Parts: sequence; C-alpha cells; structure tokens
Amino acid sequence: MTRKDAFGNKSIKVPFFNPYISKQDKIAVNNALNSTLLTDGPTLQEFENKFSAFTKSKYGIGVSNATSALHLSLKSLGIGKGDEVIVPDMTFVATANSVLLSGATPVLADIDDDMNLSVESIERSLTKKTRAIIPVHFAGKVCNIKKMKKIATSKGLALIEDCAHAIGAKLDNQHVGTFGDVGCFSFYPTKNITTLEGGMIITKSKKIAEYVKALRNHGITKSLLQRYSKGVPWDYDIVEPGYNYRLDEVRAALGISQLKQIKKLNMLRKKAFEYYNQKLSDERGILFPKLAKHEEHAYHLYIIRIQKEYGVSRDKLFKKLLSLGIRTSVHYKPLHKFTILKKQGKIIDTIKNTENIYDEIISLPLYPLITSKEQDYVIEGIINH
Ligand SMILES: Cc1ncc(COP(=O)(O)O)c(C=O)c1O
Repeated sequence: MTRKDAFGNKSIKVPFFNPYISKQDKIAVNNALNSTLLTDGPTLQEFENKFSAFTKSKYGIGVSNATSALHLSLKSLGIGKGDEVIVPDMTFVATANSVLLSGATPVLADIDDDMNLSVESIERSLTKKTRAIIPVHFAGKVCNIKKMKKIATSKGLALIEDCAHAIGAKLDNQHVGTFGDVGCFSFYPTKNITTLEGGMIITKSKKIAEYVKALRNHGITKSLLQRYSKGVPWDYDIVEPGYNYRLDEVRAALGISQLKQIKKLNMLRKKAFEYYNQKLSDERGILFPKLAKHEEHAYHLYIIRIQKEYGVSRDKLFKKLLSLGIRTSVHYKPLHKFTILKKQGKIIDTIKNTENIYDEIISLPLYPLITSKEQDYVIEGIINH
C-alpha cells in the first residue's frame, strides 16, 4: 500500500489527497499546447460556456483562481473602503483576504454545527456599514442559502457565494452559486475538478459579467480575438486599472476535459464519503457529517469531530494517524487567529461554536480513487485507540 508521498515522507501509506488526472485530460492539455493562441482565446470561451451550462447560470467568467474570483466579485458590486462584509470565521483565509484586497473590512461570524455560516450570527453581525455576505458552502455542504438570500434582499446587501468546495452541489435541484449575485468556484488541484490553478465566476448579471471580464484582463474591454479580428489591435480603452487574473487556454482545455468527468468524480467521492459514515457511525465520541435529502452534497472534505467520549484528543489522533502513515488535516484554523485578521478583521457576534468545533475537527483522506483498503486502514487507525 506504500506509495510515493508528495512531500517526500517514505512512510506514508494513505495520502491526504491524490489528484485525478485522466488519459483524456492529458490529451486535452497536449492538444491545447499545440494551439497558436495560448491565452484569452476560444478554449476559455468554450470552458466558460460549458461551466455556465453545467450550473445553469447565465454567464461564466474564467479567472486565475477563486481568490481573484472573489476579489473581482466584490469590486463588481462596488464594495470597498468603509464597507463591512460578513464572512464565516471558519473558512480558508482567501474568503477574508479577498475582502481585505477590496479595501473593505471582513466581519467574522460564527458557524452552525454543520460548519456552515450561521444565519443568527449574520443577523447579530449586521451594522450600518454592512454591504455584503460571503457564505461558504463548507466541505461541499450547501449552507442555509435561502435564508441568507432573504436577509440580503431585505437589507439591500450583496450575496457572494464562495463555492470553492462545492462544484456540483445543489439545493432543491438548483446549483450553488446561482442563489446570490455571484458564485465563485476554485479549480485548485484538491478541488472536485481541477485546472491546476484556476477559478470561475458565475452570474446572471450582464453588467457584472462584462465588468469582471475587463478587470481580469488589465481593464481592457476587448478580448484578443475581438482586437485581432476587426479594426486595429491597439485600439482599446481602459477606464479602471485592472489585474492579470486570466485563465489560459491550456488550463481551460483541462477544465473542459475535467468537467466532462464531474459526475463520475463526485460519485466516487460520495461512495468514499458514505463508506466512512457507515463504518464510523457506531464509534463513541465521533460525530460524522450528516446528509440532507433535498441537498446534493459535493463531498469535498470528509470532516469528523472528536469529542470527549472518544477518550483521545484530536491532536493526539492526528499524531497517531501520521505515525501509521495516514495523512490527515484540519480545515481550518479559524480566521480570527491570524495576525492580519486580528488587526484588520472585526468580530461583532461571539464565535463560540467556531472555537469549540475547531478543537474537535479532523479531515480524513478523501479523493476519487481512494480504495476501500485505504479507507479500512484509516478507519482501523481511528477505531483501535
Ligand atoms: C473556501 C475557499 N475559498 C476560496 C479559496 C481560494 O481558492 P483558490 O486557491 O482557487 O484561490 C479556497 C481554496 O482552497 C477555499 O477553500
């Protein structure tokens, strides 16, 4: 069972993650490398069209990663200096970094037991300066998005869905990312599909789509194709300084190929997720993730909670599993613990639930091609303590 570990540890038997790159993905990348237009071209457009068709959204705009997607979304909604944006305290730092990059202040709110942003905590964190909410569909589980939408609508706030964990997740058959003003996706290597680095914004607003398309490309309002097919290529205007947040043609080709496999990939994740749930459900002191009928989970992370009755702390379990050659992790260290957010973030509500949950959580290896033998080894390591 021993395999090469990405970080050079020879004793690793079960990695935390193993990327899924198929033969057809490699062919797609190779073909794209033979193109003469390697960025800002038709393959990106095709990927955008296919991703928006997949999520049933009107527009898809490919960008360099989900952090740039979040940053551009905030800018497109006019959020900046003096504004407050509510984010969960429990998320990857990019959710809050994008707020800081826009010049606004992230307000860190508490989570519910399912690890998603709490509606009650949002309500307690609202001030006169609140301009937006960025919920995360955490670990692939759909958050309480309909209630958040109600709050956003009634208070005139923007709603930006951080869907980095949730490619393919749905609520009542509607894809995440289509409830709010914008949805932001990540195609980082551990995500449900990958372009290596990459991201996508989806929206129903033409205005947002056009703004974001220009800003991802230095503020230039025309694509390369437009500039070279009509008139002269240097004839364009810039009305606002933009960024280079482009997604190139090779990554877009990989995205198209990966997207063709999303159903299979999510199904494999689901199988592994349910296998853990079934095998760990009788273990005292372990809380495992619950699934709801009207939701389609994206099965991005498998996180259990180690409680007192288990008899061993989370940190000790982490060390024990590592000594057995099993890599695990914690998603995440809460944002309020980072120096930058202590300085530039804000907490209005209490964040008790985040604190309690943080001490208990551990993420187990989960990837499409994890074998039941590997899972059994992880489960044995958890049960025999
Ligand atoms: C919840 C969340 N938001 C945003 C991001 C940022 O994604 P990217 O690495 O594509 O910028 C991540 C990345 O892991 C994430 O987990």
